Amino acid sequence: MSFIIEDFGKLNGTEQVKRITLSSDAIECSFITYGACIQSIKVPSKDGLIDIALGFDTLEGYVHQDKYMGATVGRFANRISGAAFTLNGKEYLLAPNEGRNTLHGGLCGFDKKNWAIEDADVNSVTFFYISPDGEESFPGSLSVRVRYTVDGNRLAVSYSAVSDQDTVVNIINHSYLNLSGGGAVGDHFVRIDSDLYLPTDKESIPIAAAPVAGTPMDLRQVSILSERLDSSFDQIKKARGFDHCFILNPSDFSASKITCCSDASGVIMKLFTDAPAVQFYTGNFLEGCPAGKGGAVYSDRSGLCFETGGCPDSPNRPEFPSALLKAGERFIQSTVFEFGLLPDSRK
Ligand code: BGC
Repeated sequence: MSFIIEDFGKLNGTEQVKRITLSSDAIECSFITYGACIQSIKVPSKDGLIDIALGFDTLEGYVHQDKYMGATVGRFANRISGAAFTLNGKEYLLAPNEGRNTLHGGLCGFDKKNWAIEDADVNSVTFFYISPDGEESFPGSLSVRVRYTVDGNRLAVSYSAVSDQDTVVNIINHSYLNLSGGGAVGDHFVRIDSDLYLPTDKESIPIAAAPVAGTPMDLRQVSILSERLDSSFDQIKKARGFDHCFILNPSDFSASKITCCSDASGVIMKLFTDAPAVQFYTGNFLEGCPAGKGGAVYSDRSGLCFETGGCPDSPNRPEFPSALLKAGERFIQSTVFEFGLLPDSRK
């Protein structure tokens, strides 16, 4: 077990950004205070440790990209239609930053803040941020914590948030993962324990929940992605891949909700979460991203995001799990990433 904290550049030439690296006997993960990002996740593969998280070697890389690479996204991740919602009879008008809608918290969301390190030890680090009342037009001063814990072959991500007024919250991690350590993700296998997904309209706003059964959105059995990505199914064609919210079937935290693996590297990942949903995004718009770690070129579909959290547009959709956080109550949510080797890849 080890813990390293080091400088990772200065934001606007003044504000120090730090990187924290936590290692167990199995995995090594780095996090940066800017965006409370996951900067790397090194896991055992059949060829030794590989970094399965897309990202950048420098702070400039993170500042000069718009892909939410590795970031903690909030106060409300994903879309709010019409850049507005009504809470307790009052309408809140947000900044539209994707057509007429608000995406990922608005113009300057949690991903662009330099978080404080509240606490750190050999297996965990807690990042802290206070989002002031009215920031990006959301009501209430919100104190947010993101805690990353590395324990054996597991990385746990836990959120907690408290507001002094009623507000809406959807906090997710936006890591792009490539379990082969690079290349296109079509060769990845994915399973998502979900009977229902949210088809979207041409502005990526959910229409109404629909069964996955009988469609290429059915990932209830481990499925290779390439066949699904090439499908002529309207929802996949329109989004250029998967970019959909799947409602996770209710089950115990101890039952994995998502599995992903790569034959090329032998890496298998299981996700455990108490979030009601996951936005599964196949990196359909990565083209144009600045060069990544070690000069890596990130093209479309070179990383997968499993954005465990609430449902898009839920402040406007009473039929979706509620995003309301009442004044003084605590929002808590966790996701655990567990890594292993496929049986045939063990030496
Ligand atoms: C969204 C995509 C969007 C991406 C931004 C994802 O969470 O669902 O539609 O393009 O974030 O990088």
